[in-house]
Amino acid sequence: ASTLAGAAAEKGRYFGTAVAAGHLGEAPYVSTLNAEFDSVTPENEMKWDAVEPSRGSFNFANADRIVSHAQSRGMKVRGHTLVWHSQLPSWVGNLSAGDLRTAMNNHINQVMGHWKGKIHSWDVVNEAFQDGSSGARRNSPFQDKLGNGFIEEAFRAARAADPAAKLCYNDYNTDGVNAKSNAVYNMVRDFKARGVPIDCVGFQSHFNSASPVPADYQANLQRFADLGVDVQITELDIEGSGTSQATSYANVVKACLAVTRCTGITVWGITDKYSWRASGTPLLFDSNYNKKPAYTAVLNALGGT
Ligand code: G3I
Repeated sequence: ASTLAGAAAEKGRYFGTAVAAGHLGEAPYVSTLNAEFDSVTPENEMKWDAVEPSRGSFNFANADRIVSHAQSRGMKVRGHTLVWHSQLPSWVGNLSAGDLRTAMNNHINQVMGHWKGKIHSWDVVNEAFQDGSSGARRNSPFQDKLGNGFIEEAFRAARAADPAAKLCYNDYNTDGVNAKSNAVYNMVRDFKARGVPIDCVGFQSHFNSASPVPADYQANLQRFADLGVDVQITELDIEGSGTSQATSYANVVKACLAVTRCTGITVWGITDKYSWRASGTPLLFDSNYNKKPAYTAVLNALGGT
């Protein structure tokens, strides 16, 4: 195969990208998306501030544009994200515990219900653990008012809202074996032991020189897979350029292919022009949509040419 999605499909994986609705009018953005990818993740359009800016008032229009585009091209959609401390409208933080529980469950029901049957995987809870050595939960309105049980409660609500969707926990700095990934691992193991519905763990995989691809990346993916969940690389981008960037990208792809339950890879954007890393060049296409060495390295690692 000669495209990322085509080569990945021959290995039984999807190859996706984050997409911003605001760029869907740009011809080379869309042609690159359509040619190379078979899964999309709305970069911001499904987040709480975008879909429920005030309580009970839902706005799905921008995300619908992405979902419609994906469906018309036969692409999968990853849902991102239902319960997250960031891009959370201030009204959520002002609720009492009881109201917050009701609002969280309603948000999950309404948002998953709107796209029921159209989302292959949902990031139900995003980034709930702290960085560093503590392995502790991150402070958030959910953690602070509902306690540790908010994650379990969110997953149970999600299963009921769209039984066909794979339910993922998604985080960053959990890509290698470390205190943070150990904490997530222990949570997933506990969920599997107690029958709390969870199907997948997302490894964001935002890498740079200070945080390169860990040597134990594959081993870490494998230990989660061995718990009985799928693993997905959900927000891949790697700062740098040239051969070293290309080699790092290839290593990520090889790690996924070596783990049977690593079901797909999503890069966090199509082109360096629109990366969230404002000054960086972390993606597979340069700002003129030319294929970078990293693109070729990924394609070749997938077995394509
Ligand atoms: O939509 C507003 C616009 O109305 C306003 O005029 C403009 C002015 O700043 O801001 C716009 O919102 C921005 C939004 O992206 C949409 O472009 C926010 O400021 C900006 O903070 C937001 O950044 C996003 C970031 O998440 C927020 O946390 C990035 O695009 C997005 O790539 C990034 O993605 C996250 C994942 O969701 C979770 N994992 C980490 C990853 C990278 O930070």
